[in-house]
Amino acid sequence: MVDWKNPPRLFIPGPVKVDDDVLQQLARPTLGHRGKEYAQLQGETVDMLKKIFFTEQNVFLSTSSASGIWEAAIRNCVREDETVLCTMCGAFSDKWADVVRSCGRGVDELKVEWGQAITAEMIDEKLAGGKYAAVTLVYNETSTGLMNPVEDISKMMKEKYPDVLVFVDSVSAMVGLPLKFDELGWDITFASVQKAFAIPPGLAVALVSNRALEKSAGIPNRGYYFDFQLWAKSAAKNQTLSTPNIPHIMALNYQCAKLVKEGMENVWARHEEMGDFVRGWAKENFELFCEEKYASNTLTTIKNTKGIDVAKTIGGIQEKHNTVFGNGYGALKEKAFRVAHMGDITMDDLKELLGWIDDEIK
Ligand SMILES: Cc1ncc(COP(=O)(O)O)c(C=O)c1O
Repeated sequence: MVDWKNPPRLFIPGPVKVDDDVLQQLARPTLGHRGKEYAQLQGETVDMLKKIFFTEQNVFLSTSSASGIWEAAIRNCVREDETVLCTMCGAFSDKWADVVRSCGRGVDELKVEWGQAITAEMIDEKLAGGKYAAVTLVYNETSTGLMNPVEDISKMMKEKYPDVLVFVDSVSAMVGLPLKFDELGWDITFASVQKAFAIPPGLAVALVSNRALEKSAGIPNRGYYFDFQLWAKSAAKNQTLSTPNIPHIMALNYQCAKLVKEGMENVWARHEEMGDFVRGWAKENFELFCEEKYASNTLTTIKNTKGIDVAKTIGGIQEKHNTVFGNGYGALKEKAFRVAHMGDITMDDLKELLGWIDDEIK
């Protein structure tokens, strides 16, 4: 019997499980969003986010999910007569290209098969042959469990195309995977908090470079709710443009304090350890969906080489243990399945889940 008040423990790649101590932060007494207490909350939180993402540039909090920032990046920083090179390697990067098109901006697609990575060479080849305002890239493609080689790409972009803006969707990467924003030279990156921040959905974090912010000042018809210029004015006062999702920002503050205390190198190593563990199990029992060198440390997409009934396996584990993992995304349903290992998921959680999958499929 389904009971939303007694939901399963989540190993789907977002939302992921949220610990009780984090949930309790959402129940704190509310604050007036123009009051000093709120400004203190936002100021503290943004300062910690700057440490977590190694940036001195702009950090914005958006009461939206990450899809809002897909659109904001384009509407704020690309003129209507400019073209974006949209790299596409799975469901989410494909969707971002649709969003760019829906904003009336020019799109040129750089598309590879699901499970393949976007490389620096591919982008270089495209950029060499045309004029582009920006490139869109997904750090971690949540449908295929693939990490694009963002370091190589960033290095190439800085060396060869310093005038082209770099927009990176870090939705399932932020926190779990190395992200030193200023060093990478990116212009916009973002995530919603229901992934590796391990907070319920309802808030997004966006990092915006100074030059992207400057460019937005000259772009007409940016809209209102996602206008970077208005965001920056409010952020200067440690406020947001309109009433923000204050309970979520309290939870974000709490999670950021834990991350700063742990140290980002340790946080990334913890995710790598979980990634190694799940990959080991996947290789022993099935196959990885993508080449191992691109396999993500925040989730694993596993090829269903044994032809198991994925939905039935998930259903069986839900019934016995009130726990679920992810079926393949979209066209990959039943052909693959996904296990998240990010945020506050632990090695013990994973051992338990993989043991249950073993029991279910033997
Ligand atoms: C890589 C990626 N980008 C964008 C999104 C959309 O994020 P949201 O649902 O928070 O709008 C998702 C959601 O899973 C994602 O995994």
